[in-house]
Amino acid sequence: MKPDLSQHYILITGAGRGLGQHLAEHLAACGAIVGVADIDTATCTATVADLIAKGYEAHAYVGDLADQATFLQVADDFASKGGRIDAIINNAMILHYCPVEQVEDARLTAMLAVGIKAPFWSAQALLKHYDKERGASIINMSSPVAHRGYPNTSAYSAVKGAVTVLTKVLGAELGPKGIRVNAVSPASVPTPGALGLNTKEVYEKRAASNPLRRIGTYEDNNNAIAFLLSKEASFVNGEIFNVDGGASSAG
Ligand SMILES: NC(=O)c1ccc[n+]([C@@H]2O[C@H](COP(=O)([O-])OP(=O)(O)OC[C@H]3O[C@@H](n4cnc5c(N)ncnc54)[C@H](O)[C@@H]3O)[C@@H](O)[C@H]2O)c1
Repeated sequence: MKPDLSQHYILITGAGRGLGQHLAEHLAACGAIVGVADIDTATCTATVADLIAKGYEAHAYVGDLADQATFLQVADDFASKGGRIDAIINNAMILHYCPVEQVEDARLTAMLAVGIKAPFWSAQALLKHYDKERGASIINMSSPVAHRGYPNTSAYSAVKGAVTVLTKVLGAELGPKGIRVNAVSPASVPTPGALGLNTKEVYEKRAASNPLRRIGTYEDNNNAIAFLLSKEASFVNGEIFNVDGGASSAG
């Protein structure tokens, strides 16, 4: 789906690679001016160079978005390009699974910080920089792990569970101000991060058991988010949009 997002200023966190990188190109192709933010300098700058080479307007922001001051500074810089921010996609995350007895304090803290704290900073940034006439939108990245108990995913699932309820809370809190808050819950897209968690065999099994007999793609995620950002979704708020072939709802 390619809605007209021309002159939409959209900041995407964790957009140096994976779902965020592909989403940045999709939204740019819809006409958006994209802010590509990532903690990784090489992938962040390479993504933006690629987008500019393709004729799109894109801006790179390197930093740890778990940090409030960094997030708000990135938002200030991006807002200075066009005078506002229309949407923020909270996509950045550390993808890591392990048995609960192996959860380390430092890694858990880092996962909670980028996964849970950054969406709070995104709300603060958008409240400062959105255009009250146009309204604005936040999209969080949920996951099937937020809806069911998958062994060995405790830290990751705790983040996604928190982000899922935060989506509902902020949808209710910010809706009256004209800011819609929704989440997408994609499943089984073999991104660089996800390939560190799951083997090829796991993906084959998931495809075989999925009601639609396949795993997810970048396009599935892009299309769902483009819809949620579009004016056609102007009455969609506080929603968790499963893009998983029906895996979460199947018995
Ligand atoms: N791939 C899937 O199947 C899947 C399924 C459900 C949800 N998700 C969610 O989608 C999002 C993207 O996942 P992905 O599979 O593309 O992962 P990925 O690991 O390939 O990409 C994540 C990006 O986030 C960046 N990042 C991590 N910590 C950061 C920080 N503190 N500040 C700034 N950037 C940071 C990384 O550098 C990386 O570029 C995540 O929120 C993930 O939980 C993915």
